[in-house]
Formats: sequence, C-alpha cells, structure tokens
Amino acid sequence: MPDRYAVIGNPVAHSKSPLIHAEFARRTGQSIEYERLLAPLDGFSETVARFRAEGGRGANVTLPFKQEAFALSDRLSARARRAAAVNTLRFDADGIFGDNTDGAGLVADLERNLGFALEGRRVLLVGAGGAAHGVIPALLDAGVGELIVANRTLPRAEELARAFAPRVAASGFAALAGRRFDLVINATSATLANAAPDLPSGLYAPGSLAYEMMYGQGETPFLASARRDGAGRTVDGLGMLVEQAAESFLLWRGVRPDTAPVIRMLRGA
Ligand code: ATR
Repeated sequence: MPDRYAVIGNPVAHSKSPLIHAEFARRTGQSIEYERLLAPLDGFSETVARFRAEGGRGANVTLPFKQEAFALSDRLSARARRAAAVNTLRFDADGIFGDNTDGAGLVADLERNLGFALEGRRVLLVGAGGAAHGVIPALLDAGVGELIVANRTLPRAEELARAFAPRVAASGFAALAGRRFDLVINATSATLANAAPDLPSGLYAPGSLAYEMMYGQGETPFLASARRDGAGRTVDGLGMLVEQAAESFLLWRGVRPDTAPVIRMLRGA
C-alpha cells in the first residue's frame, strides 16, 4: 500500500498539488498516493483527524486553513512559528508536526530558478495578510537589504511590521511614491478579483523583478501594470508552488525532488 498524503483546502478542486506530487513520486521512485480533500469551512480539524485515522501520513494545507493548521499542530518548525501559519502537516507517532514551506519555496524560485540573488536587495512586499506574513521570515533570512510591507489598509501593515521590527517597515500605497525597488512581490488577493493593487508608478529600479505569488492563465493585472511601469522582468508564482511542494516532499520522504522538469511540464500544459 502506498503512503497517503493530501491537500486540504476550500476550495481545492483546482489545486495542482496532486499532479506535482505524483510527478515528484514518479521521478524519485517513491510510492505515494496524493489526493484532494475539500474541508467544510467549519470542519478543518475533523477533516484532518479523519484522514489521519484512515492512515494518512501528512497533508498540505491551503486557503483558508493555514492559521488553523498552525493552531492544530502539536509541534512546530522554527519557520512555521515565525510565519504564524502552517502549510505542511506530518503525522508522527507522537502527534502532528507543522511546518511552513511557502517562504522557502519563494526564495528557491527567486534565487535558484530565476537567478535573482536577494542579498542586499530593496524589496517591496505588497499585502499584509497571511500570504505576506508567511514569506517574511525567509526573505529576511535570505539577507534582503530592505523590506517594506505596503498595504491598502495601513494599520495591518504596521501590525505586521511590528512583529518583525526593526527589520521590516510599513507603508501605505501613496507614500511609496518616489521610492525604487529591486523586487516587488504581490502578496495581496487582488488577483482573485482580477484587480491590481493601486500602487504609484515609478517603483521599479532598472533590472527589477515583479513577482506575483499567485499563478494562473495569462498575465495578471499586477504583472501587466508592472510591465507597463518598467519592471525588468515579470513572473508568476508557479515556480513558488512547485518549490514549496518540493520542500514538503522533502519533509515527508527525505528526498528533495528535482523541480525544473516539473515546472517546465506545468508551463507547457
Ligand atoms: P491572504 O491570507 O491571502 O493574505 P487576507 O488575510 O484576506 O488573505 O489578506 C488579503 C490581502 O490582500 C490584504 O493585504 C488586503 O488588503 P487590506 O488589508 O487592505 O484588505 C489585500 N487586498 C485584497 N484585495 C485588494 C485590492 N483590490 N487592492 C489592494 N489590496 C488588496
């Protein structure tokens, strides 16, 4: 019997994680089964408990359950504790181990796949929700020179920056006018509404990168406006998705799969 894993979310029907993990398993010769589990909005912990009782070995957790997964974990990795969210559960004999591979996935995509060294760079992180919070520890560990969190609602950015003071500063959107960044990351959910955050123009330094944490068909409104505004390169979050999956696979199986062919496969599909 192959070991069982799942991605738990709501919605979850469009998740590419089963495809990615099946590809990792095939390429590393691991015997696993990986399924989608739709949890009711008020039934995350029951869904986890049932899957565990049925023999599940671990799970990825996606929206909107990453904070609940954090609370449910008996033990936490240091990076999950700093991110205050969990996207990877491993069911151990002594309880549930919670980890967060999102930040490592983002940094791996930027540095390894895109050749963008973060050390010393001026970084603007747009958004102050769970998606933004989750990647801040990894960006700081990568040695960014400056990290500004900008949010439509300033108090949320200020609260997030306080949690990482003094290494993270907060800003509203309009106050960014006149600033230049090497990397601008969209961690807002505006893309889901087919909108872009209302950022001032002129944010992009020569050779800069605009990074959309979401992925999907075609150019997102944020990436389109970044391109018009002079970003050197515009990239969506498909690479991050595959890299965070590889980190989860490593936690479960002890091997880190080669991600490049899987990213190529998904880009081609
Ligand atoms: P997540 O866990 O995905 O980060 P969230 O906690 O609901 O979700 O946070 C959503 C983020 O997207 C917030 O930073 C939100 O800004 P506000 O705090 O001002 O609400 C941001 N956001 C959503 N739609 C946006 C839009 N159209 N323009 C700018 N920011 C937007």
